[in-house]
Amino acid sequence: MEFFNEIELKKIDEIKSHYPESKAALLPVLWMVQEKYGWISEDSMKKVGDLLNIPYEHILGVVTFYTMYNKKPVGKIHLQICTNVSCMLRGGYELFKYVSDKLGIKNKEVTADGMFSVEEVECLGSCATAPMLQVNNQNFYENLSQEKVDKLIDSLHSEQKVNNT
Ligand code: FES
Repeated sequence: MEFFNEIELKKIDEIKSHYPESKAALLPVLWMVQEKYGWISEDSMKKVGDLLNIPYEHILGVVTFYTMYNKKPVGKIHLQICTNVSCMLRGGYELFKYVSDKLGIKNKEVTADGMFSVEEVECLGSCATAPMLQVNNQNFYENLSQEKVDKLIDSLHSEQKVNNT
């Protein structure tokens, strides 16, 4: 598989056209890498560096600074559980521990079948509906309890199995 296909390269050119310097396109291009590959490897950082003419060290600094970038592979279903103040006060840590124990993995680990990974994260901006988690950087699930999270994990698992058949 090509690192970026023709359509993606066009999109990158389009992103670059919005800025005076290609360096400014780094965050969205890294996001494209993550959406395509699920995480950002050292090799990916080097390829993005070649593409945007940015030194690898700078890209490494950016990727390690922002928690939204995955530095290692994640599961097909990546659960990000907020433990920041509002969520913490409404059981975020307990929820994180419950999910980790249920799946048998620790923070930033992936289950043996590659299905789930779990990550403790900072505020995702849904404090009024704490505790919450985010799935695959897209969907929010809010006002969670252990019962709700059990149902959520079951339904995500079933959905993923159906998508794989
Ligand atoms: S503190 Fe959890 S979403 Fe804001």
